Amino acid sequence: MDALPNHISFVGTGNMATAIMGGLLAAGFNANRISGGDPSDEARATWAEKGVSALSAQAGDVTGNADLVIFAVKPQVMEVVTQSLRGKIKPGAVVMSIAAGVTVQAVRDMLGEPDLNVIRCMPNTPALIGLGASGLYASASVSDRQREQVGEVMGVVGNVVWLEQEAHIDAVTAVSGSGPAYFFAFMEAMIKAGEELGLDHRVATELTVQTALGAASLVKHSPLPIEALRRNVTSPGGTTARALDSFERVGLSALVGQAMQSCFDRAVEMSEEYK
Ligand SMILES: NC(=O)c1ccc[n+]([C@@H]2O[C@H](COP(=O)([O-])OP(=O)(O)OC[C@H]3O[C@@H](n4cnc5c(N)ncnc54)[C@H](OP(=O)(O)O)[C@@H]3O)[C@@H](O)[C@H]2O)c1
Repeated sequence: MDALPNHISFVGTGNMATAIMGGLLAAGFNANRISGGDPSDEARATWAEKGVSALSAQAGDVTGNADLVIFAVKPQVMEVVTQSLRGKIKPGAVVMSIAAGVTVQAVRDMLGEPDLNVIRCMPNTPALIGLGASGLYASASVSDRQREQVGEVMGVVGNVVWLEQEAHIDAVTAVSGSGPAYFFAFMEAMIKAGEELGLDHRVATELTVQTALGAASLVKHSPLPIEALRRNVTSPGGTTARALDSFERVGLSALVGQAMQSCFDRAVEMSEEYK
């Protein structure tokens, strides 16, 4: 726990903030070192049940002591939220935003602090069960110690990757930020196809989900590269080869590339919109 900030304040106590807060508590971080600001009575009640008492409907009431302020609100409300927090962030504190498309410059402009220590983070939804993948970018003013602390915080909900360029946040959005949805869509398609082949929905779902879990775990634990694992299940002239040939004919790889480029382009557009 030594590497964590002394006090962490969350602006927005919704799904993602609750996942991080829960990870911190599970790691032994004391609830009295956490505060949260959120207009939702329900969201604050959930946190109160977990032992966090420094809660307010007005985020500005609880950010003053924090060494790390985490903005976990939707991008659309960032402007309103930051206006209410002007002058309410401790000098030297780090502000981390997980709002998609909101740049370091935009956070500084909205808070009226040109030299603010800002970190951008792109998490993903498996963080809700501690299996997230987050890409983080720190502005130059953030110290090594602060980077280490924020890395520890996001580490409670999964893996952390530091980026050298802010623009790479948009690529992270295309890979891991939106990535869970690609796998969900692929699994939905597999379940539908399994049903068309005669399996009932429950069986097709169970087999698909376990296969996805097994394949990802095998990649993670095997010393072999993904390509070798794929070749190992693909006997020449066999069933898997026939399926992969079909993927190749419809251009699966190019299709994935196009989809991710579209995702990336939208992330860039959003950064322009929220400037
Ligand atoms: N890459 C990803 O897959 C990914 C995944 C999750 C989250 N994110 C990002 O993380 C952020 C949070 O997402 P989430 O799913 O946790 O959203 P969420 O569950 O909707 O939580 C946001 C919370 O902020 C509250 N809020 C609204 N206005 C506020 C204000 N002025 N001050 C303080 N709190 C305010 C909301 O209250 P009300 O409900 O009353 O409005 C809500 O409780 C978003 O920017 C999202 O884009 C990205």
